[in-house]
Amino acid sequence: MSRIKVPSGFVIGAAMSAYQVEGNNTNADWWHYEGDRLPRSGSACDFWNRYRDDIELAASLGLRALRISIAWDRIMPSEGKVDDESMDRYIDMVKEIKGHGMEPIITLHHFVNPIWFTTRGGWVREDNVKYFLDFVKYVVDSIGDRVKYWLTINEINLYPVLAYLLGVFPPFVMNMEYMWRALVNLLKANDKAYELVKKPSNQVGLVIHIMPAEPASKLSIADWGLAMGMNYVLNRMIVNTLAKGKLPNWLGGGEIGRLDYVGLNYYAVAKVKFNPLTMGELVTSRQNQRGWIINPSGLKRAIRLTRKIGKPIMITENGIATDNDNDRITYIEKHLTIAIKEKVMGYLYWSLLDNYEWEMGYRAKFGLVECDPATLTRRPRGSAYFLGKLANGGSI
Ligand code: FCB
Repeated sequence: MSRIKVPSGFVIGAAMSAYQVEGNNTNADWWHYEGDRLPRSGSACDFWNRYRDDIELAASLGLRALRISIAWDRIMPSEGKVDDESMDRYIDMVKEIKGHGMEPIITLHHFVNPIWFTTRGGWVREDNVKYFLDFVKYVVDSIGDRVKYWLTINEINLYPVLAYLLGVFPPFVMNMEYMWRALVNLLKANDKAYELVKKPSNQVGLVIHIMPAEPASKLSIADWGLAMGMNYVLNRMIVNTLAKGKLPNWLGGGEIGRLDYVGLNYYAVAKVKFNPLTMGELVTSRQNQRGWIINPSGLKRAIRLTRKIGKPIMITENGIATDNDNDRITYIEKHLTIAIKEKVMGYLYWSLLDNYEWEMGYRAKFGLVECDPATLTRRPRGSAYFLGKLANGGSI
């Protein structure tokens, strides 16, 4: 295989989210359900107190960008209350990232809400969107021009499915109508947030997750049907909506989908098998602690589908959960090669640190840097040096 050069201007870094690394986000809806329906996150990586060291570590490895999110539950711990001290800490994080020569990429919503918002009906209610916008306005007014790359909502197509259809994320609802309502309200929230954040000097994006679905058996019509249905609900529907800039009529119509660039999260493909009792199930693989099926060519398909939206694409997440760091290096090598060939804006590996992987707890190790949940000791893996070196040029 011929070697490919990392182009200058191609940004390579790592991604994280507040809840998964900060620790003790006690006013979050997730926190509220932990211990009962979810594993406890506890102190997570204690990033809230150790962010300066972690940012310095990321820079010393050579990374050029760091994606973090701002916890709405910290900024607005109760309804109508704003915590300026927490905001100051986020401003300091941004300063530290920039001070170390890295590009801060800021996500405004990454799966987690303040518990008071969820208690009020969360994303299912359109009149709740205004609370998120209050938060966005406050953050933007506070951070000002310090940030160039913003991301409004993480995985806008997947989050409503997990929280309101499959019932695996808080508030654990299983209701198709609620899922669509939440999606529409999140899309509306994105548009209004875009207006609040947008300045000539910045780029405001929205994150989608594309997981191409394939039939477990190419000979099974039922598997094919299931894969097509899943591709529509998870992947095509959001891409078509953003490409047209319009909601389908059956979801109320109306212009939607303002964005300057698309954040694309890609991890794996979904192999689906029809099951008359459960409708369908996913084939799993042991190569990934999350069971996901690794297939770098899926990234090419995901990028090509996303391109229909007609905006520049940044890979905002891509990673593997494994204890085998050689597998991680191979994974990065293969996916990064495709990202470069497909000429996206940049590539962020998920994640800088091993962290709280939602309903899996600490069992899934995605980190470039090992973080022991008991001692919180950080140990960079070989893959961290590998990616850090490529972030500064070179060839794969
Ligand atoms: C993505 C999420 C991220 C992380 C990875 C593994 O869907 O955006 O927070 O959990 O999966």
